[in-house]
Parts: sequence; C-alpha cells; structure tokens
Amino acid sequence: MPPLHRRGLLAGRVAEVREHPAHPARVDGDLRLHRLVPVAGPHRSRAAHRRGARVTALDYNQLAAEYARHRRPYPGLVEFLAEFAGVNGDSNVLEMGCGTANHLAALQRLTGARALGVDPFPEMLKAAATHEAELELRTGRAEEIDGLGLPEASFDLIFSVDMIHYVREPARYFEGALRALKPGGVLCTATDSEEIIRTRVPVAQYFPSTVEVELGRHHAIDDLLAALRDAGFTDGRRRVFESTYELTDVTKYREKAFSSLHLIPDEEFASGVAALTARLAEGPVLANNRTCAVLARRPE
Ligand SMILES: C[S@@+](CC[C@H](N)C(=O)[O-])C[C@H]1O[C@@H](n2cnc3c(N)ncnc32)[C@H](O)[C@@H]1O
Repeated sequence: MPPLHRRGLLAGRVAEVREHPAHPARVDGDLRLHRLVPVAGPHRSRAAHRRGARVTALDYNQLAAEYARHRRPYPGLVEFLAEFAGVNGDSNVLEMGCGTANHLAALQRLTGARALGVDPFPEMLKAAATHEAELELRTGRAEEIDGLGLPEASFDLIFSVDMIHYVREPARYFEGALRALKPGGVLCTATDSEEIIRTRVPVAQYFPSTVEVELGRHHAIDDLLAALRDAGFTDGRRRVFESTYELTDVTKYREKAFSSLHLIPDEEFASGVAALTARLAEGPVLANNRTCAVLARRPE
C-alpha cells in the first residue's frame, strides 16, 4: 500500500505552502496545515502555467465524513456512461479516484456490471463500502495505474469524477488506462471546465477566491483532449452535464463539502458562509451542479 498521509512531511512544507501562488498567505495555526500537501505540478494546464499555479492535494481521509454526508452523483452522468459505453451485467468497469463511490455504486446498481473502485485514501473507501452495491475497492493512485496489476484489455469503461486535477501527469494515467481498456472501451474524465468554474452558483459568488484556486489546479479541457490523443485514444469529445436545484441550507458549505473551500482565506470563508446564510433566510437560491465529461475510446 502506498504511503497515504505523511504528516511528518507537512511541517517541512509549510514554507512551501506559504509560497503557493494560488493559496492564501495566512495559513498559520490553521487546520489546513494538517490537510494540505502542496505538490509542484509540472504537467499542469497551460492556463495554470500562465498563472504559475501548482497542483494541490488534500488529505481525503480527513474529509471522508463530510464528503459522504453531502456529495451525490451528477444527475444524468451515470445513465449516460452506461449507455455510451454499453455497460451491462457482463461488463467490467473501473472508477479511478472513486472516493465514497457515489457514481460507481449507482452504475453498478443500474447495470449489474463488475465494479472496481480505486482511491488513495482508506477512509473514503470505508465510506464507499457502505453502499449496498457490490463493489471491489482497492487503494491506489491514477498515475500508478500500471502497478495495480489490471489485466490488459479487460475493462469496458474506466472513468473518474472530480479526480484528474489531483494528477500531475495525466499522460501516465491515460496510457495505463488505454492498456487496461478493451478495444472500443471508453475512458471518461469528468472534471470542471473554465466556464463551469467561473459560473458556479453559489460558490463563485459567495467564495470568489475559489475561482482562481480552481483555475489554478484544474487541467484545461483542451489539454486533456490533447493528452488523450497523444496516449493513443480516438474519438475525443466533451459533454457537459448540467442541473439546477433549489438550495435551502448552508450546511454543506459550512462543513466544506467542496475541496476548494479548504483552500481560501478563513476570513473569506467565514464572510461567505454568513452572506449565504443571510441570503437563504430570504428564500432558496437556484444553484447549479455541472461537470464536463471528457470522453475517448481505445481504438478497435
Ligand atoms: C472530489 S473527490 C471525488 C470522489 C468521487 N469520484 C466522486 O465523484 O464522488 C476526489 C477523489 O480523488 C481522489 N484522489 C486524489 N488524488 C488521487 C490520485 N492521484 N489518484 C486517484 N485518486 C485520487 C481523492 O482521494 C478523492 O476521493
């Protein structure tokens, strides 16, 4: 099992955190010191390069409870993937960075496929194991996909949701995924596009620093499509899934169920929660929930 959370490293990296261009300067005495593991990101997107930002990872062992309580699948994504990749009871599917496995469990229940979930953080996998769906769960990282011992040409679908921004070298993951997919098999990388980040309601309005933080750590969609082509995939395309809902309760923001809320200054977080609470006292906010699925196939 790879090292999961090396607290000893964190103290030595405090200075690095302070220099983090996409991170607030005020981090002293802050819980985030125990959660942040800043990592230089040589393969970040062109947009991130322009801003000189770095990929930042969070310790999801610490976030598993809030995540399990508040996060749900993107509406429509699982149903689309089942149809697009032709997933059925004879299929093998893998979710890389499955976390609490909301999407994987829904896909398994919908199709009856054999479902494998991989994530670096055991606490996320513990929450994933509470689903009724039949899931095989293993620790591992996307960039080390080759070390998982997956049989070649064995998966009909490999997908990830809100994971790829934690991977410094998507190319290595994409190349390994290509080998593990059957000919014609589908790779889906659901992530935030620049437009989604800039127009997210209510996060972008009430916590405006999240926009730069998110732009800094997300790969541009065009970069992902180019990396997929370079890895040998064909038929690259994107598809946005969008839904709106009436937000009535501030709890998931107050409990930081969205990782970007761990990466903004305390003052902005507190004033954003207060402003959103006050706004919600007047009535519901029409919130949006979007993801951009970057899709490609292993050539036949
Ligand atoms: C925002 S959560 C998304 C979880 C899940 N995919 C979902 O949609 O609910 C990001 C997940 O990526 C995982 N992760 C972080 N770095 C990773 C890496 N290098 N390889 C694979 N997964 C990673 C985290 O542990 C976490 O569970």
